[in-house]
Amino acid sequence: MDKIVINGGKPLHGNVQISGAKNAALPILASALLTEGTNTFHNIPDLVDIKTIKKLLCSMGAQIEGEESVKINFDKITSHTASYELVKTMRASILVLGPLLARTGMARVSLPGGCAIGARPVNLHLKALEDMGAQVELKSGYIEAKAKKLKGADIYFDLPTVTGTENIMMAATLAQGTTVLNNAAREPEVINLADVLKSMGAKISGAGTDLITIKGVTSLKPTESIIIPDRIEAGTFMIAAGMTHGEINVIGCNSHHLEALINKLRDTGMKISPIKNGMKVSAGEKINSIDVKTLPYPGFPTDLQAQMMAYMSIGSGLSVITETVFENRFMHVSELLRMGADIVIQGNNAVVRGVPVLRGAQTMATDLRASASLVLAALVAEGTTEISRVYHIDRGYQTIEKKFSALGADIKRIK
Ligand code: EPZ
Repeated sequence: MDKIVINGGKPLHGNVQISGAKNAALPILASALLTEGTNTFHNIPDLVDIKTIKKLLCSMGAQIEGEESVKINFDKITSHTASYELVKTMRASILVLGPLLARTGMARVSLPGGCAIGARPVNLHLKALEDMGAQVELKSGYIEAKAKKLKGADIYFDLPTVTGTENIMMAATLAQGTTVLNNAAREPEVINLADVLKSMGAKISGAGTDLITIKGVTSLKPTESIIIPDRIEAGTFMIAAGMTHGEINVIGCNSHHLEALINKLRDTGMKISPIKNGMKVSAGEKINSIDVKTLPYPGFPTDLQAQMMAYMSIGSGLSVITETVFENRFMHVSELLRMGADIVIQGNNAVVRGVPVLRGAQTMATDLRASASLVLAALVAEGTTEISRVYHIDRGYQTIEKKFSALGADIKRIK
């Protein structure tokens, strides 16, 4: 198993190119199930999770070629099953359920296991499909869904679920009649997917708001489209610049997707200004400690909570970080404590008292974003930090050690 070794203390300087967004590419690749013919998607990131969904789609009959530009053809669907072996490694596999059911009238998808950050139920996905007339049963760990023809329905999501919104939006494109999603997720990745579906001929309005309307059509045609940049990768590098007292240019990111983070980073004392095709990000004189509360988009993203905690652990005062989206997303705290951070968890609040220095240690990655926060802490810690179970990082960050070493960090991967 690979591990990453970092010697801290180097300020970051230079340019970093942001890759395509993992959480846009996953639903967009799944949307190819909706059409015959060949779809072409550009700016697909080179990540473990992308390899996983490509394997899953091939197991269902897809012909796929290419890496950064992917051609995917679903002239025929040879299997209606998304197997446990594949789904257990990536819960976003649930995204094949809606399009598969809409295209073929049946789907058998393994219930995605929970993961480090929580139980991750999919009840809202399943209830919405039942509202659209599907029969949904749970049999020995599999979701078995059938629907001769999905019918448009008025759906209300108890929570603004991101993949739930994406799954049902895809299912509704081929339903009979109109579907309205109330309390829909507003993430930029939802908008990217809606744009792709519209270019296939779907009739969708309201993507990016909490009310999305989809008028069913009889069929969709293949399209060519581009994946948006990954706002979470961009945010991770921006926080790294603030922590290491550096100054970097984050290229290819869309600052409109990061307004909550930019607002918070300026409060910590950082300077952030737009440049051609990105942002220039500089550390402040000192690190002001601020409070952060995660919320659905456009609130502060839960996927940047662990990275923000690493930053606040070297702040000048006291910071309260509140996680409202997932029930167990403080897995990084115990590892940060081993590096000398001073953090106390009280329910879904973490009280972070800034310390002057962190010290390198042997640590272990638990989930994708928690491991990113360990990399950030290691970049500023005194001495050497080893991070094991690096496959968690590879799920969501393309060659993270190459991008950080190009910015001047002393970081390498040990096979
Ligand atoms: C998406 O997960 C992202 N993954 C997550 O990113 C991200 O953290 C999350 O949205 C929140 O922004 C992808 O897009 C592939 P949710 P998702 O459904 O859709 C509860 C990463 O690091 N809920 O919006 O699974 C759920 O338990 C990953 O890239 C139900 O109760 O998240 C959670 O508490 C991690 N029932 C809350 O809603 C449901 O049926 C938000 O979950 C669905 C969700």
